[in-house]
Amino acid sequence: MKVLVIGSGGREHSIVAKLASSMQVTELYAAPGNGGMADLATCVPIDVTAVDDLIHFAKEEQIDWTFVGPEIPLLAGVVNAFQQENLNVFGPTKEAALIEGSKDYAKSFMRNHGIPTAASETFSDVEIAKAYIAQKGAPIVVKADGLAAGKGVVVAQTVEEAIDAVENMLVGNQFGQAGSLVVIEDFLEGKEFSLMAFVNGSNVFPLVPARDHKRVYDNDQGPNTGGMGAFAPIPDLEQTVIDDAISRILKPAAAGLVEEGRSFTGVLYAGLIETADGPKVIEFNARFGDPETQVILPLLENDLLQVMQDVTAGDDPKLSWKDAYATGTVIAASGYPGSYEKQLPIPDLTQLPTDVYCIHAGTENNAGKLVSNGGRVLFIGSVHHNRADAVKSVKKGLEIFKDDPNFHYRTDIGFGE
Ligand code: AMP
Ligand code: GLY
Repeated sequence: MKVLVIGSGGREHSIVAKLASSMQVTELYAAPGNGGMADLATCVPIDVTAVDDLIHFAKEEQIDWTFVGPEIPLLAGVVNAFQQENLNVFGPTKEAALIEGSKDYAKSFMRNHGIPTAASETFSDVEIAKAYIAQKGAPIVVKADGLAAGKGVVVAQTVEEAIDAVENMLVGNQFGQAGSLVVIEDFLEGKEFSLMAFVNGSNVFPLVPARDHKRVYDNDQGPNTGGMGAFAPIPDLEQTVIDDAISRILKPAAAGLVEEGRSFTGVLYAGLIETADGPKVIEFNARFGDPETQVILPLLENDLLQVMQDVTAGDDPKLSWKDAYATGTVIAASGYPGSYEKQLPIPDLTQLPTDVYCIHAGTENNAGKLVSNGGRVLFIGSVHHNRADAVKSVKKGLEIFKDDPNFHYRTDIGFGE
């Protein structure tokens, strides 16, 4: 079968790599793809939201299945458009993806369906928002309603910080339309984990949990990023907490979306926090997490294309997992998540140890030379039966970037914390 993957990040490189190992896949395409995928897939320069061009390409090339990676094309209605043309596509419609596209919608959805999450209110008026913050006190969390590439959340330690955040969003237009509504929610204390599931209607097939590291510096210091590394599974996460999250969060969410006429097919992502009262939702996403996918797919034993077909048909994909541990660290451009340069030369990746894998996130081929073209550039991962061995391999892999002033990375990922 011919398969098209829409997207260009590390998540999509991982999806392409996993699909490349499927016996059913004869040809792979990525739109637009990145510099690391070229060995596995034909990269076609079509933007992820150019719906008509994507459909034209899928018909012309007789693509059998399309996988949509990122949230932006999902919310732009790429899946709706493919379905209308009777093309096989894996991902939620834009109506179902609203669970990620609007935090205000997600919060009222959770309230209506009894899904545990922090108490919150939504505001469009800055003065009313400020009065609410003053009354609530800090710490408190301010979130832009719409998509903001993981940067629309401010965990404010003081009332002043929270007021600045709402002013930036509601008055300063920091995130444009995405910040014209703000959700202000109670601060929750606890360890975070990401639990995803393949979903079709009310069928829920959970994946192994993973932990993302969103802060830029070691020991979870500094500003939030798109994610600086991840590991899976999580050694200190009890099975009872996972079971609780499946039965009290993922299953009611899938059933609730069906009830609201927004039946979800694809990967539903719950960003969770383990509180003293059990797991609570920080956010829902309508897609695979990035960089969680880069550690979860290497542990999946099934053929991903078969899983897509089974889930879509309403069958149990019978997921099976390697008895192993995966961890990986993001190599970011200097300055990220602030301003950074592009076109940075990438060290010779053939020097990497043989027991690590390298996923490309922001790279491109420029006249035969591999250069960066984003803030998060590469992901160095390793899978081992034993956690210490996986961590050791990644550490060795990171050495080729150690003295390179163009890049930075965290050194504390994968220890199980
Ligand atoms: P999000 O983009 O919604 O995943 O939020 C980014 C990060 O902000 C999360 O990974 C958490 O670390 C933090 N965060 C978001 N909401 C809360 C909350 N209610 N309480 C504590 N931390 C939060
Ligand atoms: N890793 C968080 C996300 O994909 O949104």
